[in-house]
Amino acid sequence: MRYQGREVDIEGRVRLVMESALTARDRVGVQDFVLLENYNSEAAFIENLRRRFGENLIYTYIGSVLVSVNPYKELEIYSKQQMERYRGVSFYEISPHIYALSDNTYRAMRTERKDQCILISGESGAGKTEASKKILLYYAVTCPTNDQMPALGERLLQSNPVLEAFGNAKTFRNDNSSRFGKYMDVQFDFRGAPVGGHILNYLLEKSRVIHQNHGERNFHIFYQLLDGGEDDLLTTLGLERNPQSYQYLVKGNCPRLSSVSDKNNWKVVMKALSVIGFTEEEVQQLLNIIASVLHLGNTQFGEGEEGETYITTETKITNLTKLLGVDGSALGEALTHKKLTAKGEEMITPLSFEQAVSARDALAKAVYGRTFTWLVEKINQSLALKEEIYHSGKGCSVIGLLDIYGFEVLQHNSFEQFCINYCNEKLQQLFIELTLRSEQEEYETEGIAWETVQYFDNKIICDLIEEKHKGIISILDEECLRPGEACDVSFLEKLEDTLGGHPHFVTHKLANGKTRRVMSREEFRLLHYAGEVNYNVNGFLDKNNDLLNRNLKEVMCQSDNQILSHCFRKEEAIDQKRPEMAATQFKNSLTKLMEILMSKEPSYVRCIKPNDAKQPGRFDEVLVRHQVKYLGLMENLRVRRAGFAYRRRFEAFLQRYKPLCPETWPNWHGRLSDGVSTLVNHLGYKAEEYKLGRSKIFIRFPKTLFNTEDALEARKPDIALTLQTSWRGYRERAKYQRIRRAVIVIQSGWRGMKARRRAKRRRQAAELIRRLIKGFIYRHEEFCPENEYFHDHVRYSFLKNLRKNLSKSVLDKSWPTPPPSLIEASDHLRKLHMRNMVAKYCHRVQPEWKKQMMQKVVASEIFKDEKDSYPQGVGRLFLDSRLEREQMNLKVVQTLGSDKVQYGVTVVKYDRRGFKPRPRQLLLTNTFAVLVDRTKIKQRIDYAALRGISVSSLSDGMFVLHMPNEDNKQKGDVVLHCHHVIEVVTKLSMMASKVNYVNISPGSIRFVVARGKEGFIDFVRGSELKVAKGKRGHLLVTAPQINTA
Ligand SMILES: Nc1ncnc2c1ncn2[C@@H]1O[C@H](COP(=O)(O)OP(=O)(O)OP(=O)(O)O)[C@@H](O)[C@H]1O
Ligand SMILES: [Mg+2]
Repeated sequence: MRYQGREVDIEGRVRLVMESALTARDRVGVQDFVLLENYNSEAAFIENLRRRFGENLIYTYIGSVLVSVNPYKELEIYSKQQMERYRGVSFYEISPHIYALSDNTYRAMRTERKDQCILISGESGAGKTEASKKILLYYAVTCPTNDQMPALGERLLQSNPVLEAFGNAKTFRNDNSSRFGKYMDVQFDFRGAPVGGHILNYLLEKSRVIHQNHGERNFHIFYQLLDGGEDDLLTTLGLERNPQSYQYLVKGNCPRLSSVSDKNNWKVVMKALSVIGFTEEEVQQLLNIIASVLHLGNTQFGEGEEGETYITTETKITNLTKLLGVDGSALGEALTHKKLTAKGEEMITPLSFEQAVSARDALAKAVYGRTFTWLVEKINQSLALKEEIYHSGKGCSVIGLLDIYGFEVLQHNSFEQFCINYCNEKLQQLFIELTLRSEQEEYETEGIAWETVQYFDNKIICDLIEEKHKGIISILDEECLRPGEACDVSFLEKLEDTLGGHPHFVTHKLANGKTRRVMSREEFRLLHYAGEVNYNVNGFLDKNNDLLNRNLKEVMCQSDNQILSHCFRKEEAIDQKRPEMAATQFKNSLTKLMEILMSKEPSYVRCIKPNDAKQPGRFDEVLVRHQVKYLGLMENLRVRRAGFAYRRRFEAFLQRYKPLCPETWPNWHGRLSDGVSTLVNHLGYKAEEYKLGRSKIFIRFPKTLFNTEDALEARKPDIALTLQTSWRGYRERAKYQRIRRAVIVIQSGWRGMKARRRAKRRRQAAELIRRLIKGFIYRHEEFCPENEYFHDHVRYSFLKNLRKNLSKSVLDKSWPTPPPSLIEASDHLRKLHMRNMVAKYCHRVQPEWKKQMMQKVVASEIFKDEKDSYPQGVGRLFLDSRLEREQMNLKVVQTLGSDKVQYGVTVVKYDRRGFKPRPRQLLLTNTFAVLVDRTKIKQRIDYAALRGISVSSLSDGMFVLHMPNEDNKQKGDVVLHCHHVIEVVTKLSMMASKVNYVNISPGSIRFVVARGKEGFIDFVRGSELKVAKGKRGHLLVTAPQINTA
């Protein structure tokens, strides 16, 4: 049976369609201890865990805390499909899972924009590291990727195998036990994509480098290198494959692990190093260091006869020095001698055998420890948030993952276990602080009726360890710094003196008989929250001092190996100041860690180890009960159960769920508590389901909030729509406003520019006018700057005007009047223009037309203003001939022979005597003219003989050809009349070259009738043309007046 779901009706009121109670969600036991019937019973609690464990249901909730039981076998619950199942699904909707917690934390980070952290606790081997890897994998697979950091997820994941190889080891309790603390921040951008990571590492258990308890191993990397490294590599490093050859690997007598393959892991680590971005050179140097530690372990010492110490494995030291990149003799010297500064003087004293051994071990620990820190730094550089993203202004949110070494009790517990267990005390304290104590205090401050739940507060143990002056760490430090013979035993005595009587502290001396039997004299016992642990004080002082001889430091500073020279700074060798003690350093780093965790919203994973044998399917009730007890899970459940599953501040609650109630949506203006109660009433919360405190609402059952969440989910599309519309409206308005502002800016710019241009033009115009006026005033002055422009302008205007008004025809004599200064130029231009026009005209004239023109010019020379009929005659076209060829008598033409007739015209010949008119043809050749009467040439007139031609000044057509009178052959002058007198006379005079022999007689023409006898033709003006005999034998010609107008 599954909880089926909810419906939301139109008013947003939640109607629950519950199939049954939430208890029915899981088939086996209850998936949330809060739903456990008998919540006060530890047996019922463990039974629920056992039943679920039996069905491979390893996860169970106590409210929001996830309890995880190590299955010690691979379960099919971590696939990609499983991740998808848990994505975006409410915490309680499906069965508990580490993915549900991861997803919930991720969503809380995104919706509430608050940094989160996931605290994973539990004893060694309980599954903390595995849980943290699953969480990281979930984020790497399900979160979106950032374009700028696409490979970040992969790098985050790959940091694990590297750190595990160098920082994990097989212990008695766990084959892959974390021997360092790790807090990892994963940074997400505003879209929820991982964009960066940062790791803080805490106190590596360095002593493991030189010594391992029986059945335990050194750090994995040594075995991986020896098992997986290629032959060539091992040869270069001077290593043998057998781990038993190395002193630092033989102590635990456990070279191989059945559960894991060192060879395979070697490949995984090498690949991871390259994914993270280690260069080949860096990897080589790293391996040199690892190999050098092994060689260092094999460096043996001998004692000389005089007690001096020397290195017996001198031959092997060459390899070591090569790998460390240091000077061999200096290293040898530094391993067997100590440098002291006394009263400002440096002294070198030889070391005893034991001292040399411990100096060698100290060097091995320092080299390995510092290299590990370098490794973390290097990984951090690769994971570092990119500057651009950091400064993009869109804040990043963080999820912190804490996976630290778990509480452990070994056969021999030393300084390291003391630190590890102290760290676990602090985490338990934080858990108590944030869940049990603060929860109960909250009910009180909020005024909620509450029955206090008793729980064990481990603060007393934390104080016992860390309190100033009185705490174990302070005493240890004091003992280390104290002058005189301080040793581990004196430290124990000091502890007894100071802490004797403390309920959580016992020593052999202080214990009762029963306890004394299980304690040695060198031990002190702490009653931790998780159990009793006996710590052997041997080595406490040395380990706390964590000193490395100064001359060893000096040698290491000189190393060629980049990693080592980075780890061993020169300043450190010179610096005389003592660094802080290891325990104090650790205490301080834990205090910082607590601050980091407190600043974030925590989620918890409580890991439980089902058996000590690392076996699947075995559920050791005693062991589990012990863990349930010390982890405070029962108290946790009681507080949860008696209290309320959820609480929210009024404003947060109202802010989130206000869309579900019409009165509170979109804003509630009254008091917050009233708003919340209106909202919950509307949602139909029952009285037992919730309580209102002073500033918070407390919701008892998860299902109540769960239903409300679902209702909100259902309402979201509506809200989204409203938001979208408002946003679009806002965006469009903003866009419109932007455009409008831009338009105004452009407009004003344009207008401004136009106005400026206009103003400029006006200014220029005014200036021009002013210059013109001034020029006008000075126009009669000599040429001077004042009138220069005016004159230029006048000239320019004249020329411009002239260009437009130039006459188009030769006959058009018009010409604009030039200004005085241009008169001469104007004249030149005018002539030029005329000549130009004439030239053009002439150019255009056809030969016939030219002939015509020449004749007309001659006519004009002869007759212009002389003869009345001239205007009429010159206006007519002069024809080539007035007679067609057919009109001429063929015989006549033949008679003329080669003298071609150039012109023929009909004329009337008047007899010289009697003036009888006779029609004739006048034919002109090139050298003479003939008068033809039909077929007969009547008279031939040689041009050469022609003396002149006379015409009257009137409009008549009379003309007289004067012939020479000395020649008897000649008959006398020829009197003719022709209608084309102007044309005939012109042509004749031209052909005969007698143009200058044409006279125009105004009154009468005298002509020779015969030798010695003259005749006269008188001309008068009359109404019409008449030729008749006049008085005194004259011929009287009346010519009409021609109106030339
Ligand atoms: N969810 C799981 N599924 C399968 N095996 C698991 C799971 N959790 C833990 N284990 C097994 O238990 C072993 C120990 O777990 P893990 O290393 O996480 O312990 P731890 O709590 O980190 O211990 P330590 O404090 O010593 O580091 C793992 O190597 C693995 O074999
Ligand atoms: Mg671990």
